[in-house]
Amino acid sequence: MDFSSPTAIPAAVAAGAIAFFFLWGLLFASPKGKRDPPNVSLVHFVRLLLRDHRTVFIEINKHYGPVAVIKIPLLGKIYLMLGSQVVNAFHRTKALNFMKAVSKLTGHFTPDPQAPSGTPEIAMIVNRMLADPFVPSHIADEVKTMTQRDGWAKGGEVVDVFSDCYDLVMAINLRCLCDVAAQSKTGMELKALVMKTDIERLMQQLGTHLNRAKAVREVQDVYKRMKAILQELYDEKSAATTKSSNDYLVWIFDRVAAQGVDDPMQRTLFLLWGFLFAAQLNTYANLAWLLVRIAHDPKLAARLMDEQRDVLAQYKGTDFRDAIPTVDELNRMSLLERVMFENIRLTAPGVAFRVLDEDFSFNDCDIPAGSMVGYSHPSLHLDESIYGANAKEFDPDRKVQFMQLDGKIGLPSAGADTAKEPVHMTEGSLHTNYNVAVFGLGRHPCVGAKFAIMETKIAISLIIRRYNLLLKDDVFPKVSMTQFQGIYRPTNKVGLCLKERVY
Ligand code: HEM
Repeated sequence: MDFSSPTAIPAAVAAGAIAFFFLWGLLFASPKGKRDPPNVSLVHFVRLLLRDHRTVFIEINKHYGPVAVIKIPLLGKIYLMLGSQVVNAFHRTKALNFMKAVSKLTGHFTPDPQAPSGTPEIAMIVNRMLADPFVPSHIADEVKTMTQRDGWAKGGEVVDVFSDCYDLVMAINLRCLCDVAAQSKTGMELKALVMKTDIERLMQQLGTHLNRAKAVREVQDVYKRMKAILQELYDEKSAATTKSSNDYLVWIFDRVAAQGVDDPMQRTLFLLWGFLFAAQLNTYANLAWLLVRIAHDPKLAARLMDEQRDVLAQYKGTDFRDAIPTVDELNRMSLLERVMFENIRLTAPGVAFRVLDEDFSFNDCDIPAGSMVGYSHPSLHLDESIYGANAKEFDPDRKVQFMQLDGKIGLPSAGADTAKEPVHMTEGSLHTNYNVAVFGLGRHPCVGAKFAIMETKIAISLIIRRYNLLLKDDVFPKVSMTQFQGIYRPTNKVGLCLKERVY
């Protein structure tokens, strides 16, 4: 700044004043009306984050109550909803707009910012896959391909189990969605492109927020290339005389084109990318965490193997090792399912974001329409009043009280004498116990939960029947304190030592 200019000093004073008030707003409570929720100062938030990032929202709830507001630099004002007191009220509110929140946070980073909600079509793909008799064998084939890779073949050392699980889930998704082999040239290019559009990662990078326009441009260039690849695949596959059963690309494009959409390939890209994005990150990270937990805990490993022997008792020798479980057999792997739910409970730092279409009031606090609200899942999942004093520990046998949407306690199907008894987290149908948000609650729960459960059970079942697992150098995943979405993706490499079982 040229301080000799007559306007320089007032301008400097004005800039200083703006910076001062900006910082004041961020760091300290701003004046509030009678029914405004309490402000969480950024200093306090950072202090809690540094003390134990997993319990930061539990502590905010204890300190400020179930509704509080925080201003996050570059993201703005977020109204936080916390704990079991508000979970039903939050999910009962019809005014919560999921798509507005998604587009506010990530809109221009998606392939088609103008596209309406893609969820119904993604749910249709998932339902079709669940009924597709070829899908379980595609999953099993890809697990087998992984076990032939370096480190896995004949039992060896896996250097980075999270990276291998990422590749496995990507291979399953590409195979099931568009009949593309992950090792093919197209498969490898698609994988590299999808990785560049990982919104969770992009949102954690400072550069994305400092120069949003540049970040959006780069991602949109990636989508152009993806669209060209999908067009080539579509031309090739739709011309083929024998259609493959897992050609969702052709199925989706033809459906979208029949609806008279302006650019059906752009919409197809949006839907397939939406599926890949939703079906990739949580699923692969959860799968890797499960392998780590099994490798870390010989008692758990032994119990899970006992369950495999019990459920698949009709198979002997290598048939037992290689059997692809049927739907009924998968349903009977109840310990494995509890291990999966318990892992998600502990490793998902997720905040469910929504934009309010109408004013919302709770606990003598008003939140105006148009606000961004976030319900923190750990504020429920680590709450000791629900999960007990050992809430932070891994215990797949734990039981919790079943809470219905209207706040009534007890499984609706249970008899009056047992209604209030705690149940396993897997009991009741998915998304009905409001004390358990592992696959989401309310009007926008996970549409892929059944697919994720099937895929994970098949993969874990095949892997543990083939190998005895041990954690390499006893190194457990280290998690990032700035991740507030999905399932923790560790900041370190976690290795496994494998010993092939003899049959
Ligand atoms: C272990 C794996 C998974 C976990 C833990 C998980 C968890 C969740 C959660 C908690 C939500 C709700 C988010 C919110 O309330 O804001 C959600 C939504 C969603 N999930 Fe999953 N998910 C998994 C796998 C999958 C898979 C395999 C798919 C397959 C397509 C999928 C598709 C979706 C979609 C489309 C939504 C948004 C629903 C909507 O728009 O209404 N998820 N997931």
